Amino acid sequence: MKKLLIVFHSMTSGTFQMAQAAASGAQSEPDVAVNLIHAGEAGANELLEADGYIFATPENLAMMSGVMKDFFDRTYYAAIDRIVGRPYATLICAGSDGENAARQIQRIATGWRLKPIAEPIIVCTYAQTPDEILAKKQIGEFDLQRCEEIGLALGIY
Ligand SMILES: Cc1cc2nc3c(=O)[nH]c(=O)nc-3n(C[C@H](O)[C@H](O)[C@H](O)COP(=O)(O)O)c2cc1C
Repeated sequence: MKKLLIVFHSMTSGTFQMAQAAASGAQSEPDVAVNLIHAGEAGANELLEADGYIFATPENLAMMSGVMKDFFDRTYYAAIDRIVGRPYATLICAGSDGENAARQIQRIATGWRLKPIAEPIIVCTYAQTPDEILAKKQIGEFDLQRCEEIGLALGIY
């Protein structure tokens, strides 16, 4: 049984929907067990016991979200040298950019010497005003399918 860890944070549900889609893609493979877990609840044990990873975060203030960063702060040195070579992918939900959050996660994963299986998926919700930014998001079918495919790709990797 292959174990896929999906660590996510989401304020307005967009990233959560992306992470759920990735989980359902991976679960379409019978030999894959998915642990979909909020970044605030995930720790080094979850990293060590998984065979592959999806890191899913919003971009907030040109960074990964603070809760996601806290997850990496708490686990980075506990996991270093112990997860080398494992595959990973990144999902970013952004208003209009998302590149820097993706870059930050890539740097951390490079430090862990993980292997990217795809370019980061960045989904832009195009929320502009404060009301739009704080509203619950609905990710479209096309983007959800891209996330599902990444989950499946990691499941069968
Ligand atoms: C405090 C805050 C800062 C944000 N900063 C950015 C940003 O720097 N770049 C960007 O593309 N979107 C930014 N956004 C928009 C969010 O990335 C966007 O609303 C996204 O859909 C949030 O994902 P979520 O629904 O999973 O929380 C920001 C949102 C908030 C609340």
